[in-house]
Amino acid sequence: MKNLIEAIEQLKKEKNAVILGHYYQKGEIQEIADYVGDSLALAQWAAKTEADIIVMCGVHFMGETAKVLCPQKKVLVPDMAAGCSLADSCPADKFAQFVKEHPDHTVISYVNTTAAVKALTDVVVTSTNARQIVESFDKDTKIIFGPDRNLGGYINSVTGRNMLLWDGACHVHEQFSVEKIVEMKRQHPEALVLAHPECKSAVLKLADVVGSTAALLKYAVAHPQNTYIVATESGILHEMQKKCPQTTFLPAPPADSTCACNECSYMRLNTLEKLYDCLKNESPEITVDPEVAEKAVRPIQRMLEISARLGL
Ligand code: 13P
Ligand code: SF4
Repeated sequence: MKNLIEAIEQLKKEKNAVILGHYYQKGEIQEIADYVGDSLALAQWAAKTEADIIVMCGVHFMGETAKVLCPQKKVLVPDMAAGCSLADSCPADKFAQFVKEHPDHTVISYVNTTAAVKALTDVVVTSTNARQIVESFDKDTKIIFGPDRNLGGYINSVTGRNMLLWDGACHVHEQFSVEKIVEMKRQHPEALVLAHPECKSAVLKLADVVGSTAALLKYAVAHPQNTYIVATESGILHEMQKKCPQTTFLPAPPADSTCACNECSYMRLNTLEKLYDCLKNESPEITVDPEVAEKAVRPIQRMLEISARLGL
């Protein structure tokens, strides 16, 4: 393991590469990454890096976003099979049809989409900036929001909007059950529930704090005296525990106690060995059709500009 870490560090230096990692990565990947963050931070770092190679330790759509922002750079992912059930729930051809059926609507897409879906979009959002970006539009702007029905429903509920929602979801966040969390609360009555807005509305109603991975982490760091039940992919506990070593973080249990379904099977495909191989071989490499990239870059840039204006 030590040798592998040294070999990755060495290759990174030789090739002027940067390793970006999402909070849902295995702890060992988070430890070796130059930057660890949520989807917004990963896009922001990709947009400003001076490295020649970006290794995206996350899932495919995160690599695509980096490639669209930096078409001249090589963007690598340790495992090309690291997809996303939420992005898969929104095929570009079907989404194009949906958009066509509502020509008077502004299209807002969650970053968890393919570049082809982003190419059909007016502005991209992440869970960190979705509320503010939606609120930056006039109250009577008609909006299509895709693909996450839970995040879209949550934003509708907190903004009073009535966005038209695409019917997609994430298989990890959808599985958290109210019953299991209530049971956990019975055992730990002092615990606060932190939940990602991709969870179902019944779970969000139970939550004390709803937010992106970065927002949940920020809350815990600001209030380390509490105990937390964490209803999102359990990889985030690595950074939470690191930043708040005295705090008790309890991963919200999976609905089926025999599975590890509070872990994203796609995110967990990345390993140190694959990270080493991908740096060494400069493969697998993310490619995006230039025509698609040209259209997809605009709504991503728009998101980055609004976020910068809002100080996010
Ligand atoms: P964040 O942007 O909150 O990190 O979410 C990413 C993700 O994939 C959630 O499932
Ligand atoms: Fe996609 Fe869900 Fe995995 Fe996030 S946790 S990458 S939304 S499948």
